[in-house]
Amino acid sequence: MDKFVIEGGRPLTGEVTVSGAKNAVLPILAATLLSSEPYRLFGVPDVRDVATMRQLLRSIGATVSDEGVEVRQIVHCGAPYEWVKTLRAAILVLGPLLARCGEAHVSLPGGCAIGARPVGWHLDALKRMGAEIALEHGIIHAKAARLHGARIDFERVTVTGTENIMMAAALAEGTTVLHNAACEPEVVDLAHFLIQCGAKIQGAGGARITIEGVPRLGGASYRVIPDRIEAATLLIAGAMTQGDLFVRGARVEHLASVIAALGKAGVPITMRDEGMHVRGGGALDAMGLETAPYPDFPTDVGPQMMVLMSRARGISTLHETIFEGRFSHVPELVRMGANIQIEGHRATITGVPRLSGANVMASDLRAGAALMLAGLAAEGHTELSRVYHVDRGYERIEEKLSAVGAHIQRVKA
Ligand code: EPZ
Repeated sequence: MDKFVIEGGRPLTGEVTVSGAKNAVLPILAATLLSSEPYRLFGVPDVRDVATMRQLLRSIGATVSDEGVEVRQIVHCGAPYEWVKTLRAAILVLGPLLARCGEAHVSLPGGCAIGARPVGWHLDALKRMGAEIALEHGIIHAKAARLHGARIDFERVTVTGTENIMMAAALAEGTTVLHNAACEPEVVDLAHFLIQCGAKIQGAGGARITIEGVPRLGGASYRVIPDRIEAATLLIAGAMTQGDLFVRGARVEHLASVIAALGKAGVPITMRDEGMHVRGGGALDAMGLETAPYPDFPTDVGPQMMVLMSRARGISTLHETIFEGRFSHVPELVRMGANIQIEGHRATITGVPRLSGANVMASDLRAGAALMLAGLAAEGHTELSRVYHVDRGYERIEEKLSAVGAHIQRVKA
């Protein structure tokens, strides 16, 4: 298992480019199962989760290259545990397979580092659309001669739940209306992709989405949106290292809550064409923050924001409202000198003058990203192990950071 070796304290200066959004590509790759037409996708990041999803599509019968996907025929209507245990987002093939083949056999995703992450709302919605669902030996067995439209009221916002049902509804008989739908930009990107393929979808980006089923979908050539979570991670890295960094590709409309939070922390972000500029160096101010579904502050940037708060003057708080296990990086951050108390889903962060380098371990994707940021800002030497977690969602991140002044090296195990 590779590790990152980091010499901290070097300001990030210059320009770095954001890759395509992993969490937009994953549902869009699943959506290619809905038709036998060819697809071309651009801006796809070279990250582990995308590689795993491509492998899964191949096992289902797709021909997949770096830019193209074609699912002329389905040879296996499902996603066995071997794929799902490393990629929870494999659940996204459930809706498309059911819509395309009338059946799907997808392993129940287990929990993961950040929580139990059940998928009951996905299954309830498919049942309302006429699917018969049975759970046996950890596998979801779903059957539906033809799905029909339904009114779906999601108990709470679910991103992949919204995406799964949107895809299933695209080919269903009649109209489906989703209430309390997720509004994330990645949901909107999937909707735009499906519309380009001939789907009839209205309201994506809002809490109420209407999908009118069509008999079949065509192919498409599509460029995915930039990764707002990577952009936020890079902006925080620039702030933490007293840097002067331009993040090319970051979109203001996707990052309003992050820009507002950074502003409150004393980190002004200036918008320029094609990206955002962050200049660190000023004193950091403590603040209170709560994660919530889009457009509020994203849970996927909570760990990284906590690292910034650990250097702010005063006492900050972070209330994580989405996942029960989003604090796995905290004990490691404390070993680097941070002063953080956890009580349930709330963290209280008392600012310290400095962080010090240490040997630490990543336990999930965003916890790993947070510890990487801490290493960049800390005094001295940090070794971050199990960076395969970071590689799931960040494309060649050590090369990007080195190119703007960081001393970070990947040491192959
Ligand atoms: C998506 O996960 C993202 N993954 C996550 O990003 C992100 O953190 C999350 O949305 C929240 O924004 C992808 O898009 C591939 P949810 P998802 O369904 O869809 C509960 C990353 O770091 N819930 O919106 O799995 C669930 O347990 C990843 O890139 C149920 O109880 O999240 C959670 O508490 C991590 N039953 C909450 O809802 C269900 O049927 C929100 O989960 C579904 C969800």
